[in-house]
Amino acid sequence: MIIKRFETVHLLLINRGARRSRRPLFLMEQEMSRLSGRVALVTGASRGIGRAIAERLARDGASVAVNYVKNQDKAEALVAAITKAGGKAIAIQADVTRHEDVKRLFDETERRLDRPSIIVANAGALFVRPFAEMTDADFDTGFAVNVRGTFLTFIEAARRVPEGGRVIGFSTNLTLRGRPELGLYQAGKAAIEQFVKTMAKELGPRRITVNAVAPGPTDTEMLLPKAREEPPRVTPLGRIGQPEEIADVVAFLASDDARWVTGQVIGANGGIV
Ligand SMILES: NC(=O)c1ccc[n+]([C@@H]2O[C@H](COP(=O)([O-])OP(=O)(O)OC[C@H]3O[C@@H](n4cnc5c(N)ncnc54)[C@H](OP(=O)(O)O)[C@@H]3O)[C@@H](O)[C@H]2O)c1
Repeated sequence: MIIKRFETVHLLLINRGARRSRRPLFLMEQEMSRLSGRVALVTGASRGIGRAIAERLARDGASVAVNYVKNQDKAEALVAAITKAGGKAIAIQADVTRHEDVKRLFDETERRLDRPSIIVANAGALFVRPFAEMTDADFDTGFAVNVRGTFLTFIEAARRVPEGGRVIGFSTNLTLRGRPELGLYQAGKAAIEQFVKTMAKELGPRRITVNAVAPGPTDTEMLLPKAREEPPRVTPLGRIGQPEEIADVVAFLASDDARWVTGQVIGANGGIV
C-alpha cells in the first residue's frame, strides 16, 4: 500500500517534470533512477555549467549539494527549482580556495544529506592578461580558484569519497593550443589534467574513477565576448555549447555506465581538435 502510494507520487512528479522539460516520460524515469540514493557535491553550482550539472544530477536522482561563493540568491533559487521538480538539494557557501571552507563543505554535505560519492570540482575563474603586463601577484590570483580550489577539493575527495565513487574536475579545450593572454588560465587547467591522471591511479584500487571534462566555448558569463563570435568558424558544429551539453557529459561520468573510464580528459567542444 505504502509502496503503491510512493509510486503514484513518484510518477506524478515525473509526469510534471516531463511536461515542464518536454522530455519523454520513459527518459525521465530512466534518468531519475540512475543516481538514486547517491549524494553529489558540485562546486560553483550557483550559475553557468555548475548549475546545469546540479540540475542534471538531481534529475538523475542524486541529492545535490550546491556550492557557491557569493551568489547566495542564485544558489537558493536553484535549490528551490530542484526541490519543486521533485529532487533534493541544499545550498552551501564555501570559498574553494580556503581549505577550512572545503572541509566544512564536505562535512556539511555529509551531515545534511549523506556522505558524497560524486564530487564535481567545477568552480573556476577566468584570468586574462598578457605576460608583459603580469605581476608576481597575478601568479597566485590566476591559479587560486582553478588550481588551488580544485587541489583542495581533490584532497578532501581522495580522503572521503567511498569505494566506487566519482571525482570529476574541469579543464578547457584551450589546453590543446596556446591563446594570447590566457597563459595562467591554460596552465592552471593543464595542472588539473595532471591531477586527474595521478589521482585515477591512486584511487583506482578503491574503484573510484577520476576524470576531467574539457569544455569548449560554452554559453555562460565566463565566455569572452569575442569567443562568442568565433565558434561558427572554429567548431565543426558551427555554434557555441550550452551548459546542459556539458552537464550531460558529467552525468555520464557520474553514472555506472562510465565505470571503465578513468584518468581521462573528455573534450566536449563541438569538435575543436
Ligand atoms: N564557459 C566556458 O566557455 C568554459 C570553457 C571551458 C572550461 N570552462 C570551465 O567550466 C567551469 C564552469 O565555468 P562557467 O563558465 O560555468 O563559469 P561561471 O559561469 O563564471 O560560474 C563560475 C562558478 O564558480 C563559482 N566560484 C567562483 N569562485 C569560487 C570560489 N572561490 N569558491 C567557490 N565557488 C566559486 C561561482 O560562484 P558565485 O556565483 O557564487 O560567484 C559560479 O558558481 C570552470 O571550471 C571553467 O573554467 C568553462
